[in-house]
Amino acid sequence: MHTSHSGTDVHVAAACLRRDELVAIPTETVYGLAGNALSPTAVSKIFAVKNRPQFNPLIVHLHRWEQVPEYVRDIPEKAQVLAEAIWPGPLTLLLPKKPVIPDLVTAGSPWVGIRIPRHPLTQELLGLLDFPLAAPSANPFGYISPTSAGHVARQLGAQIAYILDGGPTDIGLESTIVRVEPTGEVILHRLGGVSLEMLEHLVGPLTQDRHATQPVASGMLKAHYAPRTPLVLGDIDALLTQWKDNAVGILSFSRHIPGVAPAHQRQLSPNRDLTEAASRLFSALHELDEMGLPVILAEPFPEKGLGRAINDRLARAAAAHPPEADP
Ligand code: TXA
Ligand code: MG
Repeated sequence: MHTSHSGTDVHVAAACLRRDELVAIPTETVYGLAGNALSPTAVSKIFAVKNRPQFNPLIVHLHRWEQVPEYVRDIPEKAQVLAEAIWPGPLTLLLPKKPVIPDLVTAGSPWVGIRIPRHPLTQELLGLLDFPLAAPSANPFGYISPTSAGHVARQLGAQIAYILDGGPTDIGLESTIVRVEPTGEVILHRLGGVSLEMLEHLVGPLTQDRHATQPVASGMLKAHYAPRTPLVLGDIDALLTQWKDNAVGILSFSRHIPGVAPAHQRQLSPNRDLTEAASRLFSALHELDEMGLPVILAEPFPEKGLGRAINDRLARAAAAHPPEADP
């Protein structure tokens, strides 16, 4: 269900943003909760509406490559290689910021996350504005990112001036975040819409940030991207023996699980295409979460391509609120 203040009018969206109001914007990754990145008033509203701690910095979205030097002091060579290959697209580069970017946006860090998104409506909107847009994913802090205007309307609708409806998002996972050290070392902060293979193809081996994507001991793993329903990640057949008397939800790559109501199952890609699976992951989690089941059982995906980022999101969801006890 969409709220009345949702639509496809970029001029309405621009007018709201010029008044320091917030607008949900479609990107090729997930929907963002956008405000004027140069206005501390607008940026404060983003933190308040998301209920997000102010130590968690925001990504700044630009219209064109030529604008980047207005906001950052330096673009290391490998960052340039990545940007030229992928922008506009699902890549965020952490670059040394110029003072024009408010400290509130970067949570005091000298690095700012910069991204040029490629969704046509948001591209058009950015072209109308004379300021960039700070935008985290348009979900309450810690919850699953929205991949449709309806997700945004249900989670945050009442608190947003306008939802720019660009249809379901194409990639369905957040951007991949990378930082290039002065030494040329490339550090991976978050896996997302750009695969590890693609990054390595472009700039060679990467160093993984401690908080990024290793299969981490559960306590170390930052809980995030999580449905409210407890999610358990593992071999579904084995898990079902423990949960057999319950109406469980199932999230699988392609397999239909006999004995579980079809309505409670989501197969992300019957043809086992990881890109298709990624695009459906969050909407499937939203749907299963809305059923109010006691648990969602999910299986690990192949550790390649976008499968790695899918596994990262599932592991974080599983770490968020494990079931209280074995049933
Ligand atoms: O695909 C995306 O990246 C979406 C769309 C809307 O662009 N945005 C998004 O933003 O996922 P958010 O805020 O939900 O996640 C961005 C992550 C956060 O974990 C934040 O800590 C990190 O990026 N980040 C942003 N700026 C940073 C900075 N200056 N230094 C380190 N980490 C940063
Ligand atoms: Mg987010």
